[in-house]
Amino acid sequence: MSETAETLSPYERLGGADAVRRLVGAFYDVMERDPAYAELRAMHEEDLGPTRESLTGFFSVWLGGPREWLEKRGGFCIMSRHAKMNVTEATAGQWMDAMRHAIAEVGAEPALAEKMDKALTQLADAMAWGRKAR
Ligand code: HEM
Repeated sequence: MSETAETLSPYERLGGADAVRRLVGAFYDVMERDPAYAELRAMHEEDLGPTRESLTGFFSVWLGGPREWLEKRGGFCIMSRHAKMNVTEATAGQWMDAMRHAIAEVGAEPALAEKMDKALTQLADAMAWGRKAR
């Protein structure tokens, strides 16, 4: 079978470890630089270094790449991790805008970019929705 969109993992289609690192770099760089994300930035620790490492590990696993990050942590639930963060519709929207910018910056092919956008939008929306439901 040839290596097509069906046989490659999303991780491979994006461009592997280097692309995931660039994705996460572009995401936090725009969050730090652009005042449109000030509210979202303020929710984070001043030092974004450890968070950059974490999100890189998370995306590797989420996209079907190497799973060391998850194994080292002994499991991870993305919803539980955000449950006490007071994610609002506004800040979830900022998160998605920054992520859209990063997905475009890394040059993801359109079909992959669309899938990532849909799946991440659902997650981010659910974080804000979960807060309202509590
Ligand atoms: C699809 C949606 C999201 C994904 C995949 C995601 C992923 C992550 C990951 C992997 C971490 C690191 C956790 C750790 O190391 O324990 C993290 C931390 C964090 N996330 Fe998210 N996140 C999402 C949405 C959001 C949203 C919508 C917000 C806020 C509106 C947010 C705010 C934060 C904050 C404040 C931290 C803690 C980092 C720090 O203190 O520097 N996240 N997120």
